[in-house]
Amino acid sequence: MGIRSLLLYSFFLFPPLAGLVTCAEEMKPVLIPLPEKVEWRQGSFVLSDHVRIVSSTAQLTKYFEKRIQILTGIAFDTSSKENSGGEIIFQIGRDSATESYSLSVEQRRVTISSESEEGVFRGMQTFFQLIAPEAKAHRNGMPAEIPSCEIFDRPAFRWRGLNLDCSRHFMSKEFIKRYLDILAYYKMNVFHWHLTDDQGWRIEIRRYPQLTRIGAWRTEADGSRYGGYYTQEDIRDIVAYAQRRFITVVPEIEMPGHCLASLAAYPENSCTGGPFEVGTVWGVMKDVYCAGRDSTFTFLENILDEVIGLFPSPYIHIGGDEVPKDRWKACPRCQARIKAEGLHNEEELQSYFIKRIADYLHSKGKTMIGWEEILQGGLAPGAIVQAWQSMQPAIEAAQEGHCAICSPASHTYLNADPEDLDLRTAYSFKPIPDELSAGQQKFILGAEANLWTEYAPQETVDQKLFPRLLALAEVFWKNPKNRNYEEFHTRMQRAYDDLSALGIEYGREGKVVTYSTSYDTARSEFSVDISSVQDGVQIRYTTDGSAPSAQSELYRNRIKIQATSSLAFAAFKGDHFIGKQFTLAFDFHKALGAKLVLLHPYDERYRAGGETALIDGIRGTNDFRDGAWQGFEGVDVDAVIDLGKERKISKVIPRFLMNTPSWIFLPKRVGVSLSDDGTHFHDKKEISDDVPQKNPEILFKDFPIEFDTVSARFIKLAAENIKVCPPWHPGAGGKAWLFIDEIVVK
Ligand code: ACM
Ligand code: ZN
Repeated sequence: MGIRSLLLYSFFLFPPLAGLVTCAEEMKPVLIPLPEKVEWRQGSFVLSDHVRIVSSTAQLTKYFEKRIQILTGIAFDTSSKENSGGEIIFQIGRDSATESYSLSVEQRRVTISSESEEGVFRGMQTFFQLIAPEAKAHRNGMPAEIPSCEIFDRPAFRWRGLNLDCSRHFMSKEFIKRYLDILAYYKMNVFHWHLTDDQGWRIEIRRYPQLTRIGAWRTEADGSRYGGYYTQEDIRDIVAYAQRRFITVVPEIEMPGHCLASLAAYPENSCTGGPFEVGTVWGVMKDVYCAGRDSTFTFLENILDEVIGLFPSPYIHIGGDEVPKDRWKACPRCQARIKAEGLHNEEELQSYFIKRIADYLHSKGKTMIGWEEILQGGLAPGAIVQAWQSMQPAIEAAQEGHCAICSPASHTYLNADPEDLDLRTAYSFKPIPDELSAGQQKFILGAEANLWTEYAPQETVDQKLFPRLLALAEVFWKNPKNRNYEEFHTRMQRAYDDLSALGIEYGREGKVVTYSTSYDTARSEFSVDISSVQDGVQIRYTTDGSAPSAQSELYRNRIKIQATSSLAFAAFKGDHFIGKQFTLAFDFHKALGAKLVLLHPYDERYRAGGETALIDGIRGTNDFRDGAWQGFEGVDVDAVIDLGKERKISKVIPRFLMNTPSWIFLPKRVGVSLSDDGTHFHDKKEISDDVPQKNPEILFKDFPIEFDTVSARFIKLAAENIKVCPPWHPGAGGKAWLFIDEIVVK
């Protein structure tokens, strides 16, 4: 009988209810992921510096002692031979291929057992979670009480990953290590490291120093330089740190697309020869590696040689996603390759490219992983497919006998706003598609959470990932049959204290606030009603233009606004801001309550308040989806306002939004003219846009048009859309958007 079956056996030897306490729900420690079996018992173990560790593995003991010290301040007195404070025993068997473990907490003894060191390591994480958040928050070395329990646990999936995009925004070495500790704490075991992309090359390659000298730095719109990279020494350090935490680091080196930073450094690997600049706008770039040049493959193979030397992982991720074929279609070398290899089209050229790289990696003893696009034109034998747009590619791969990792954007892309992908949605994710037979299911290795960082610099990463990463950590560990969202959600509410104790700057679970505004014409007064949607949060607000803080006024009742001003509000959990500020600017102007007719309709997706949105007195925030901005795709904004009677007019101020990464541009020019009868317009005045267009920043701009105080009943506004995205833009040739909110009339 091996230790594992012994453990299982002994688990059932505990008489079912003997010594079992009906531990009050709110007293139980919060465990995430919830272990397969937990039984709470009477009494507790006191964790203090007098505890003796009994273990046959020095590395795990050292890790455990250090972690306990970091979490609680307790330093075990290792010089003491006696065990006056009880003992903690690590029992390790010989079968190294399991993560199952048992954890037993008795009054004088804690035992963590598994057939493998890895299993004991996972059990240690459960033990850390049994320590109350207060002990972790204070870290004063005071003894901590651990409730007695018997736990048996094992994962449902062997691949439980997080992909961090360190190209779009760089994350420091210390920050990555902190995340490795966080992943370990929630029993995740793969760190997928997105190291290269259009906007930054982040891994030192000795043979090609320009990759980091040039490729790691980009010039931002304001002229500043942004960048950074990991030296090979940094990488070795991080990989070793991960190894001690039983986490596999899978590097991703993107090809044949998402490689502009590399081409900026070595333009000779492109179809056109360049020159190129490291990307500064987000999107999918047309310039990719040339598949016709053998020198491109030599370059990539030399890079992969160094990568292989740095990462002991059996897997290397080569991206393979989002490869526009424009350059290959126009490139004589790529066309010659298609002919010489007997390929039919550029899709097959992509497949040729990927297979050639897969073969190279295979010859070096590594397995290639690629995003689902590697299925195009035929999959390389042995390659692993990572599904991202849906589950379908994983289904296809598994049906053909290929391994797959599931990370559909709908459930695992945590860069999505929580309003669009909430805690419940994340928790509803099922890594095993129903379509697969039992035999095919074994090809699903597991799943990954992803954080793409176009809009997530390092300081916002916690807020993006938490609390939703906890839902996914549980999804990756537990069999879907044994999960229940309501139960998880209740447990989650009690996990916030632990997150705070760990120093995690969590964000929100989903939509956290709803609000509505109304205008009372008779009283010339706006009312704002706000309510929170998430449990246990408070809403705080300001009216002086400052950002709401934990000390700001607590919202209790409807707020009334009687003068031009702005109202800012946000949700807090205790003194913790959870990540979204709403700002409503109220403007009491002459067109409030007037009629407005549009010549070209707005897009229904961005209708804001419909017909009156542009003269409702409430201005939009810098979020184009906030319900205040009206969007026009590919057409001008031509509006006529009817004030109902003649009024004196001195100024008309329309406001537009610029958000070029979202294809939203400022108008080329804006004109305003006036009329008494709605037919004959006069006093036409115009201003042109003067903001440099190639600018990824989100901003809004007023186009104030002044008059020498004339009287008129009708006001016509004409704002000219640039119509199509300019040549430098990733959406070049596609329809450009105009977003407008509020046409203020003074
Ligand atoms: C991806 O999101 N392009 C993998
Ligand atoms: Zn080419």
